[in-house]
Amino acid sequence: MAVIKKKKPSLTSLILGCYMTKKASRSEGEEKDAMKIRTSPLFKRLSLSDISDPSSPMSVMDDLSNSFTSQKLRLFTLSELRVVTQNFSRSNMLGEGGFGPVYKGFIDDKVKPGLEPQPVAVKALDLHGHQGHREWLAEIIFLGQLSNKHLVKLIGFCCEDEQRVLVYEYMARGSLENQLFRRNSVAMAWGIRMKIALGAAKGLAFLHGAEKPVIYRDFKTSNILLDSNYNAKLSDFGLAKDGPEGEHTHVTTRVMGTQGYAAPEYIMTGHLTTMNDVYSFGVVLLELITGKQSMDHTRTRREQSLVEWMRPMLRDHRKLERVIDPRLEGQYKSEAAQAAATLAYKCLSQNPKYRPTMTEVVKVLESIQEVETRERNGNKNEAKKFVDIKKCRHYRKGQRRVNIAYSDSLLYKESRAKQNNGV
Ligand SMILES: Nc1ncnc2c1ncn2[C@@H]1O[C@H](COP(=O)(O)OP(=O)(O)O)[C@@H](O)[C@H]1O
Ligand SMILES: [Mg+2]
Repeated sequence: MAVIKKKKPSLTSLILGCYMTKKASRSEGEEKDAMKIRTSPLFKRLSLSDISDPSSPMSVMDDLSNSFTSQKLRLFTLSELRVVTQNFSRSNMLGEGGFGPVYKGFIDDKVKPGLEPQPVAVKALDLHGHQGHREWLAEIIFLGQLSNKHLVKLIGFCCEDEQRVLVYEYMARGSLENQLFRRNSVAMAWGIRMKIALGAAKGLAFLHGAEKPVIYRDFKTSNILLDSNYNAKLSDFGLAKDGPEGEHTHVTTRVMGTQGYAAPEYIMTGHLTTMNDVYSFGVVLLELITGKQSMDHTRTRREQSLVEWMRPMLRDHRKLERVIDPRLEGQYKSEAAQAAATLAYKCLSQNPKYRPTMTEVVKVLESIQEVETRERNGNKNEAKKFVDIKKCRHYRKGQRRVNIAYSDSLLYKESRAKQNNGV
Protein backbone atom coordinates (compact mmCIF):
# COMPACT_ATOMS: atom_id res chain seq x y z
CA MET A 1 0.00 0.00 0.00
CA ALA A 2 1.26 3.47 -0.81
CA VAL A 3 2.10 5.72 2.09
CA ILE A 4 2.22 9.37 1.19
CA LYS A 5 4.64 11.27 3.33
CA LYS A 6 4.69 14.65 1.63
CA LYS A 7 2.76 17.45 3.29
CA LYS A 8 1.79 19.07 -0.03
CA PRO A 9 0.36 16.33 -2.21
CA SER A 10 1.57 16.13 -5.79
CA LEU A 11 -0.05 14.75 -8.93
CA THR A 12 1.59 11.49 -8.05
CA SER A 13 0.17 11.29 -4.59
CA LEU A 14 -3.27 12.17 -5.87
CA ILE A 15 -3.31 9.55 -8.57
CA LEU A 16 -1.83 7.01 -6.23
CA GLY A 17 -4.25 8.11 -3.56
CA CYS A 18 -6.94 6.50 -5.70
CA TYR A 19 -5.50 3.15 -4.93
CA MET A 20 -5.28 3.64 -1.18
CA THR A 21 -8.09 2.27 0.89
CA LYS A 22 -10.49 4.91 2.12
CA LYS A 23 -9.43 4.07 5.69
CA ALA A 24 -5.79 4.68 4.93
CA SER A 25 -6.42 7.95 3.15
CA ARG A 26 -8.46 9.19 6.09
CA SER A 27 -5.80 8.15 8.59
CA GLU A 28 -3.41 10.48 6.80
CA GLY A 29 -5.50 13.18 8.46
CA GLU A 30 -4.92 15.72 5.72
CA GLU A 31 -6.98 16.67 2.70
CA LYS A 32 -5.23 15.57 -0.41
CA ASP A 33 -6.97 17.90 -2.74
CA ALA A 34 -4.57 20.50 -4.02
CA MET A 35 -1.75 20.26 -6.50
CA LYS A 36 0.47 23.27 -6.71
CA ILE A 37 2.94 24.30 -9.32
CA ARG A 38 6.30 22.93 -8.51
CA THR A 39 8.44 25.26 -10.50
CA SER A 40 11.73 23.75 -11.38
CA PRO A 41 14.22 24.47 -14.10
CA LEU A 42 14.15 20.73 -14.69
CA PHE A 43 10.41 20.72 -15.39
CA LYS A 44 9.59 18.28 -18.11
CA ARG A 45 6.11 17.40 -19.12
CA LEU A 46 5.21 13.99 -17.93
CA SER A 47 4.05 11.63 -20.67
CA LEU A 48 1.81 8.62 -20.69
CA SER A 49 4.69 6.84 -22.37
CA ASP A 50 6.83 7.54 -19.29
CA ILE A 51 4.59 5.11 -17.46
CA SER A 52 5.69 1.55 -18.13
CA ASP A 53 2.35 -0.06 -17.34
CA PRO A 54 -0.47 2.45 -17.04
CA SER A 55 -2.91 -0.27 -16.02
CA SER A 56 -0.89 -1.16 -12.94
CA PRO A 57 -1.25 1.14 -9.93
CA MET A 58 2.16 0.07 -8.63
CA SER A 59 3.82 0.95 -11.92
CA VAL A 60 2.02 4.28 -12.07
CA MET A 61 3.23 4.91 -8.53
CA ASP A 62 6.84 4.22 -9.40
CA ASP A 63 6.89 6.15 -12.64
CA LEU A 64 5.13 9.23 -11.38
CA SER A 65 7.05 9.54 -8.17
CA ASN A 66 9.37 12.23 -9.52
CA SER A 67 6.92 14.03 -11.74
CA PHE A 68 6.06 17.70 -11.73
CA THR A 69 2.82 19.30 -12.62
CA SER A 70 2.02 22.80 -13.78
CA GLN A 71 -1.61 23.16 -12.75
CA LYS A 72 -3.51 23.22 -9.55
CA LEU A 73 -5.99 20.38 -9.77
CA ARG A 74 -8.50 19.42 -7.11
CA LEU A 75 -9.34 15.97 -5.87
CA PHE A 76 -13.07 15.46 -5.36
CA THR A 77 -14.85 12.68 -3.51
CA LEU A 78 -17.77 10.95 -5.19
CA SER A 79 -20.14 12.24 -2.55
CA GLU A 80 -19.01 15.82 -3.22
CA LEU A 81 -19.70 15.30 -6.92
CA ARG A 82 -23.13 13.88 -6.11
CA VAL A 83 -23.92 17.18 -4.43
CA VAL A 84 -22.42 19.13 -7.35
CA THR A 85 -24.51 17.30 -9.98
CA GLN A 86 -27.68 16.71 -7.96
CA ASN A 87 -26.90 13.05 -7.73
CA PHE A 88 -25.82 12.78 -11.37
CA SER A 89 -29.35 13.61 -12.36
CA ARG A 90 -30.37 12.91 -15.95
CA SER A 91 -31.88 16.36 -16.18
CA ASN A 92 -28.35 17.77 -15.71
CA MET A 93 -26.88 15.72 -18.56
CA LEU A 94 -24.95 17.78 -21.13
CA GLY A 95 -23.82 15.06 -23.47
CA GLU A 96 -22.22 11.66 -23.73
CA GLY A 97 -19.16 10.31 -25.52
CA GLY A 98 -17.11 7.12 -25.38
CA PHE A 99 -15.99 7.72 -21.80
CA GLY A 100 -19.42 8.23 -20.33
CA PRO A 101 -22.10 10.80 -19.50
CA VAL A 102 -21.27 14.46 -18.81
CA TYR A 103 -23.37 16.40 -16.27
CA LYS A 104 -23.67 20.07 -15.50
CA GLY A 105 -22.96 21.08 -11.92
CA PHE A 106 -21.95 23.98 -9.75
CA ILE A 107 -19.03 24.25 -7.36
CA ASP A 108 -18.29 26.77 -4.64
CA ASP A 109 -16.58 26.79 -1.29
CA LYS A 110 -19.48 24.99 0.33
CA VAL A 111 -18.46 21.94 -1.68
CA LYS A 112 -14.81 22.38 -0.81
CA PRO A 113 -13.06 25.28 0.88
CA GLY A 114 -11.26 27.59 -1.52
CA LEU A 115 -13.30 26.67 -4.60
CA GLU A 116 -14.19 29.61 -6.77
CA PRO A 117 -17.96 29.59 -7.43
CA GLN A 118 -18.52 28.46 -11.01
CA PRO A 119 -20.51 26.08 -13.18
CA VAL A 120 -18.69 22.89 -14.13
CA ALA A 121 -19.04 19.87 -16.41
CA VAL A 122 -18.59 16.54 -14.66
CA LYS A 123 -17.65 13.56 -16.86
CA ALA A 124 -18.21 10.18 -15.24
CA LEU A 125 -16.85 6.88 -16.52
CA ASP A 126 -19.46 4.49 -17.89
CA LEU A 127 -18.41 1.30 -16.10
CA HIS A 128 -19.96 -0.80 -18.90
CA GLY A 129 -18.24 1.14 -21.69
CA HIS A 130 -15.04 0.61 -23.64
CA GLN A 131 -12.95 3.26 -21.91
CA GLY A 132 -11.48 3.36 -18.46
CA HIS A 133 -8.50 4.21 -16.31
CA ARG A 134 -6.19 4.77 -19.27
CA GLU A 135 -8.28 7.46 -20.93
CA TRP A 136 -8.98 9.08 -17.55
CA LEU A 137 -5.25 9.16 -16.79
CA ALA A 138 -4.47 10.56 -20.28
CA GLU A 139 -6.85 13.48 -19.68
CA ILE A 140 -5.23 14.24 -16.32
CA ILE A 141 -1.70 13.94 -17.64
CA PHE A 142 -2.28 16.13 -20.71
CA LEU A 143 -4.84 18.67 -19.50
CA GLY A 144 -3.25 18.81 -16.05
CA GLN A 145 -0.02 20.02 -17.56
CA LEU A 146 -0.98 21.91 -20.72
CA SER A 147 -2.63 25.27 -20.42
CA ASN A 148 -3.90 27.39 -23.31
CA LYS A 149 -7.02 29.45 -23.94
CA HIS A 150 -8.01 27.01 -26.68
CA LEU A 151 -7.91 23.95 -24.43
CA VAL A 152 -10.71 23.31 -21.97
CA LYS A 153 -9.59 23.75 -18.36
CA LEU A 154 -9.52 20.70 -16.16
CA ILE A 155 -10.48 21.67 -12.60
CA GLY A 156 -10.12 18.34 -10.86
CA PHE A 157 -10.94 14.67 -10.75
CA CYS A 158 -12.22 11.85 -8.62
CA CYS A 159 -11.09 8.27 -8.27
CA GLU A 160 -12.88 5.94 -5.90
CA ASP A 161 -12.82 2.19 -6.37
CA GLU A 162 -13.75 1.62 -10.03
CA GLN A 163 -15.21 5.10 -10.46
CA ARG A 164 -13.29 7.65 -12.50
CA VAL A 165 -14.59 11.19 -12.89
CA LEU A 166 -13.23 14.43 -14.43
CA VAL A 167 -14.36 17.97 -13.60
CA TYR A 168 -13.94 20.71 -16.24
CA GLU A 169 -14.85 24.34 -16.67
CA TYR A 170 -18.38 24.55 -18.08
CA MET A 171 -18.64 25.58 -21.71
CA ALA A 172 -21.94 27.39 -22.11
CA ARG A 173 -22.62 26.61 -25.78
CA GLY A 174 -21.65 22.95 -25.55
CA SER A 175 -20.11 21.11 -28.46
CA LEU A 176 -19.72 22.36 -32.02
CA GLU A 177 -21.53 19.20 -33.10
CA ASN A 178 -24.66 20.24 -31.23
CA GLN A 179 -24.47 23.84 -32.40
CA LEU A 180 -23.81 23.09 -36.06
CA PHE A 181 -26.03 20.09 -36.64
CA ARG A 182 -28.89 20.58 -34.22
CA ARG A 183 -32.15 20.19 -36.08
CA ASN A 184 -34.66 23.03 -36.39
CA SER A 185 -32.24 25.67 -35.21
CA VAL A 186 -31.03 28.86 -36.85
CA ALA A 187 -27.99 28.19 -39.02
CA MET A 188 -24.70 29.22 -37.44
CA ALA A 189 -23.39 32.38 -39.14
CA TRP A 190 -20.40 32.22 -41.49
CA GLY A 191 -18.34 34.61 -39.33
CA ILE A 192 -18.90 32.45 -36.26
CA ARG A 193 -17.95 29.32 -38.18
CA MET A 194 -14.66 30.90 -39.22
CA LYS A 195 -14.02 32.12 -35.67
CA ILE A 196 -14.52 28.59 -34.37
CA ALA A 197 -12.25 27.15 -37.07
CA LEU A 198 -9.53 29.62 -36.07
CA GLY A 199 -9.87 28.94 -32.33
CA ALA A 200 -9.75 25.18 -32.80
CA ALA A 201 -6.80 25.54 -35.21
CA LYS A 202 -4.93 27.55 -32.58
CA GLY A 203 -5.59 24.80 -30.04
CA LEU A 204 -4.07 22.19 -32.37
CA ALA A 205 -1.17 24.49 -33.32
CA PHE A 206 -0.40 24.92 -29.62
CA LEU A 207 -0.33 21.13 -29.10
CA HIS A 208 1.82 20.52 -32.18
CA GLY A 209 4.18 23.37 -31.29
CA ALA A 210 4.74 22.31 -27.68
CA GLU A 211 8.27 21.53 -26.59
CA LYS A 212 7.17 17.93 -26.56
CA PRO A 213 4.52 17.89 -29.33
CA VAL A 214 1.15 16.32 -28.64
CA ILE A 215 -0.99 14.58 -31.27
CA TYR A 216 -4.62 15.06 -30.37
CA ARG A 217 -5.90 12.12 -32.43
CA ASP A 218 -9.64 12.64 -31.98
CA PHE A 219 -10.31 16.02 -33.57
CA LYS A 220 -14.02 16.22 -34.42
CA THR A 221 -17.02 18.48 -33.83
CA SER A 222 -18.14 16.76 -30.62
CA ASN A 223 -14.72 17.38 -29.03
CA ILE A 224 -14.68 21.10 -29.82
CA LEU A 225 -16.48 23.01 -27.08
CA LEU A 226 -17.74 26.59 -27.25
CA ASP A 227 -18.03 29.24 -24.56
CA SER A 228 -20.73 31.89 -24.53
CA ASN A 229 -18.74 33.99 -27.08
CA TYR A 230 -18.08 31.06 -29.41
CA ASN A 231 -14.45 30.76 -28.37
CA ALA A 232 -13.47 27.23 -29.29
CA LYS A 233 -11.61 24.95 -26.91
CA LEU A 234 -10.48 21.37 -27.37
CA SER A 235 -11.70 18.88 -24.81
CA ASP A 236 -11.43 15.11 -24.49
CA PHE A 237 -7.75 14.19 -24.36
CA GLY A 238 -8.51 10.51 -23.80
CA LEU A 239 -6.81 9.48 -27.06
CA ALA A 240 -4.05 12.13 -27.12
CA LYS A 241 -0.54 10.86 -27.68
CA ASP A 242 2.95 12.29 -27.44
CA GLY A 243 4.42 12.99 -30.85
CA PRO A 244 7.53 11.28 -32.21
CA GLU A 245 10.80 12.26 -30.60
CA GLY A 246 14.37 12.43 -31.85
CA GLU A 247 15.00 10.65 -35.13
CA HIS A 248 11.51 9.17 -35.29
CA THR A 249 9.10 10.41 -37.93
CA HIS A 250 5.98 8.88 -36.44
CA VAL A 251 4.52 6.99 -33.49
CA THR A 252 3.06 3.58 -34.23
CA THR A 253 -0.28 2.89 -32.57
CA ARG A 254 -3.38 0.83 -32.91
CA VAL A 255 -5.83 2.69 -35.10
CA MET A 256 -8.22 4.63 -32.88
CA GLY A 257 -10.35 7.61 -33.61
CA THR A 258 -13.67 8.23 -35.23
CA GLN A 259 -15.00 7.13 -38.57
CA GLY A 260 -15.02 9.96 -41.06
CA TYR A 261 -12.28 12.00 -39.35
CA ALA A 262 -9.12 9.89 -39.32
CA ALA A 263 -6.45 10.37 -41.98
CA PRO A 264 -6.19 7.65 -44.66
CA GLU A 265 -2.51 6.89 -44.03
CA TYR A 266 -3.17 6.49 -40.30
CA ILE A 267 -6.00 4.03 -41.01
CA MET A 268 -3.75 2.08 -43.38
CA THR A 269 -0.57 1.98 -41.32
CA GLY A 270 -1.28 3.06 -37.74
CA HIS A 271 1.53 5.59 -38.17
CA LEU A 272 0.62 8.66 -36.17
CA THR A 273 1.97 12.15 -36.91
CA THR A 274 0.72 15.68 -36.36
CA MET A 275 -0.38 15.57 -40.02
CA ASN A 276 -3.16 13.17 -39.02
CA ASP A 277 -4.65 15.96 -36.90
CA VAL A 278 -4.33 18.33 -39.87
CA TYR A 279 -6.45 15.94 -41.95
CA SER A 280 -9.10 15.74 -39.21
CA PHE A 281 -9.03 19.53 -39.04
CA GLY A 282 -9.75 19.56 -42.79
CA VAL A 283 -12.80 17.35 -42.20
CA VAL A 284 -14.15 19.71 -39.53
CA LEU A 285 -13.47 22.74 -41.73
CA LEU A 286 -15.39 21.02 -44.53
CA GLU A 287 -18.27 20.37 -42.11
CA LEU A 288 -18.26 24.06 -41.16
CA ILE A 289 -18.25 25.16 -44.80
CA THR A 290 -20.94 22.73 -45.95
CA GLY A 291 -23.05 22.42 -42.80
CA LYS A 292 -23.03 18.65 -43.43
CA GLN A 293 -21.74 15.86 -41.20
CA SER A 294 -18.62 13.96 -42.19
CA MET A 295 -20.45 10.63 -42.31
CA ASP A 296 -24.15 10.29 -42.84
CA HIS A 297 -25.64 6.92 -43.66
CA THR A 298 -28.96 8.50 -44.58
CA ARG A 299 -27.30 10.15 -47.61
CA THR A 300 -26.99 8.30 -50.89
CA ARG A 301 -24.07 5.89 -51.19
CA ARG A 302 -22.04 8.31 -53.26
CA GLU A 303 -22.56 11.08 -50.73
CA GLN A 304 -22.09 9.14 -47.51
CA SER A 305 -18.51 10.24 -46.94
CA LEU A 306 -18.45 14.03 -47.06
CA VAL A 307 -14.76 14.12 -47.99
CA GLU A 308 -15.15 11.74 -50.94
CA TRP A 309 -18.22 13.60 -52.11
CA MET A 310 -17.13 17.21 -51.69
CA ARG A 311 -13.33 17.33 -51.84
CA PRO A 312 -13.13 17.25 -55.67
CA MET A 313 -15.40 20.32 -55.82
CA LEU A 314 -13.40 22.40 -53.34
CA ARG A 315 -10.87 23.65 -55.86
CA ASP A 316 -13.33 24.59 -58.54
CA HIS A 317 -14.57 28.18 -58.09
CA ARG A 318 -17.61 27.47 -60.24
CA LYS A 319 -18.73 24.63 -57.98
CA LEU A 320 -18.34 26.60 -54.77
CA GLU A 321 -22.04 27.33 -54.52
CA ARG A 322 -22.80 23.63 -54.54
CA VAL A 323 -20.40 23.13 -51.64
CA ILE A 324 -21.24 25.93 -49.25
CA ASP A 325 -24.08 25.48 -46.76
CA PRO A 326 -27.13 26.88 -48.62
CA ARG A 327 -28.47 28.21 -45.31
CA LEU A 328 -25.67 30.80 -45.33
CA GLU A 329 -27.35 32.62 -48.20
CA GLY A 330 -24.51 34.82 -49.27
CA GLN A 331 -23.34 35.92 -45.80
CA TYR A 332 -19.80 35.24 -46.89
CA LYS A 333 -17.46 36.97 -49.30
CA SER A 334 -16.88 34.54 -52.13
CA GLU A 335 -13.09 35.12 -52.04
CA ALA A 336 -13.04 34.30 -48.34
CA ALA A 337 -15.17 31.21 -48.91
CA GLN A 338 -12.87 30.14 -51.73
CA ALA A 339 -9.81 30.62 -49.51
CA ALA A 340 -11.43 28.49 -46.79
CA ALA A 341 -12.38 25.83 -49.36
CA THR A 342 -8.83 25.73 -50.75
CA LEU A 343 -7.48 25.40 -47.21
CA ALA A 344 -9.80 22.45 -46.51
CA TYR A 345 -8.73 20.90 -49.82
CA LYS A 346 -5.07 21.09 -48.80
CA CYS A 347 -5.65 19.73 -45.29
CA LEU A 348 -7.52 16.80 -46.87
CA SER A 349 -4.66 15.84 -49.20
CA GLN A 350 -4.29 12.08 -49.35
CA ASN A 351 -0.55 12.44 -49.05
CA PRO A 352 0.34 14.06 -45.70
CA LYS A 353 3.31 15.81 -47.32
CA TYR A 354 0.92 18.08 -49.20
CA ARG A 355 -0.92 19.16 -46.07
CA PRO A 356 -0.06 22.46 -44.38
CA THR A 357 1.09 22.59 -40.76
CA MET A 358 -1.38 23.88 -38.19
CA THR A 359 0.65 27.09 -37.84
CA GLU A 360 0.13 27.67 -41.56
CA VAL A 361 -3.56 26.88 -41.22
CA VAL A 362 -3.83 29.49 -38.44
CA LYS A 363 -2.17 32.09 -40.70
CA VAL A 364 -4.64 31.47 -43.54
CA LEU A 365 -7.67 31.60 -41.23
CA GLU A 366 -6.40 34.79 -39.63
CA SER A 367 -6.02 36.39 -43.05
CA ILE A 368 -9.58 35.36 -43.96
CA GLN A 369 -10.83 36.97 -40.78
CA GLU A 370 -8.81 40.14 -41.35
CA VAL A 371 -10.08 40.58 -44.91
CA GLU A 372 -13.69 40.06 -43.81
CA THR A 373 -13.35 42.50 -40.91
CA ARG A 374 -11.82 45.08 -43.23
CA GLU A 375 -14.67 44.65 -45.70
CA ARG A 376 -17.27 44.91 -42.93
CA ASN A 377 -15.66 48.14 -41.78
CA GLY A 378 -15.96 49.55 -45.27
CA ASN A 379 -12.29 49.48 -46.31
CA LYS A 380 -13.22 47.77 -49.55
CA ASN A 381 -10.60 49.55 -51.56
CA GLU A 382 -7.72 47.87 -49.78
CA ALA A 383 -6.40 44.96 -51.74
CA LYS A 384 -7.58 41.58 -50.49
CA LYS A 385 -4.68 39.72 -49.02
CA PHE A 386 -5.21 36.10 -48.14
CA VAL A 387 -2.25 34.06 -47.12
CA ASP A 388 -1.81 31.73 -50.05
CA ILE A 389 -1.76 28.18 -48.88
CA LYS A 390 -0.07 27.15 -52.11
CA LYS A 391 3.04 28.90 -50.90
CA CYS A 392 3.22 26.73 -47.81
CA ARG A 393 6.47 24.84 -47.57
CA HIS A 394 4.56 21.56 -47.68
CA TYR A 395 3.29 22.21 -51.14
CA ARG A 396 5.63 20.44 -53.52
CA LYS A 397 4.86 21.34 -57.07
CA GLY A 398 5.63 18.73 -59.66
CA GLN A 399 6.02 15.93 -57.18
CA ARG A 400 4.05 12.82 -58.02
CA ARG A 401 1.21 12.13 -55.67
CA VAL A 402 1.06 8.83 -53.92
CA ASN A 403 -2.41 7.44 -54.13
CA ILE A 404 -3.46 5.80 -50.93
CA ALA A 405 -6.71 3.90 -51.06
CA TYR A 406 -9.13 5.24 -48.55
CA SER A 407 -11.38 2.93 -46.68
CA ASP A 408 -13.55 4.30 -43.93
CA SER A 409 -14.70 0.88 -42.97
CA LEU A 410 -11.31 0.04 -41.53
CA LEU A 411 -11.76 2.55 -38.81
CA TYR A 412 -13.34 1.80 -35.50
CA LYS A 413 -13.12 2.66 -31.87
CA GLU A 414 -11.02 -0.05 -30.30
CA SER A 415 -12.41 -2.03 -27.44
CA ARG A 416 -10.64 -1.71 -24.15
CA ALA A 417 -9.52 -5.31 -24.35
CA LYS A 418 -7.67 -4.58 -27.59
CA GLN A 419 -6.08 -1.49 -26.10
CA ASN A 420 -4.63 -3.59 -23.34
CA ASN A 421 -2.53 -5.34 -25.96
CA GLY A 422 -0.43 -2.20 -25.94
CA VAL A 423 -1.16 1.04 -27.70
N1 LIG B 1 -16.83 21.27 -20.31
C1 LIG B 1 -17.98 21.00 -20.92
N2 LIG B 1 -18.97 21.93 -20.98
C2 LIG B 1 -20.13 21.66 -21.63
N3 LIG B 1 -20.40 20.49 -22.25
C3 LIG B 1 -19.46 19.52 -22.21
C4 LIG B 1 -18.21 19.73 -21.54
N4 LIG B 1 -17.47 18.60 -21.67
C5 LIG B 1 -18.20 17.75 -22.39
N5 LIG B 1 -19.41 18.28 -22.72
C6 LIG B 1 -20.48 17.62 -23.53
O1 LIG B 1 -20.31 16.19 -23.40
C7 LIG B 1 -19.95 15.59 -24.66
C8 LIG B 1 -18.94 14.48 -24.44
O2 LIG B 1 -17.75 15.03 -23.84
P1 LIG B 1 -16.30 14.47 -24.18
O3 LIG B 1 -15.31 15.16 -23.30
O4 LIG B 1 -16.05 14.53 -25.64
O5 LIG B 1 -16.48 12.99 -23.70
P2 LIG B 1 -15.91 11.59 -24.27
O6 LIG B 1 -14.50 11.51 -23.78
O7 LIG B 1 -16.77 10.57 -23.58
O8 LIG B 1 -16.04 11.62 -25.75
C9 LIG B 1 -19.43 16.76 -25.50
O9 LIG B 1 -19.60 16.50 -26.88
C10 LIG B 1 -20.29 17.91 -25.02
O10 LIG B 1 -21.57 17.89 -25.64
MG1 LIG C 1 -15.54 13.05 -27.09
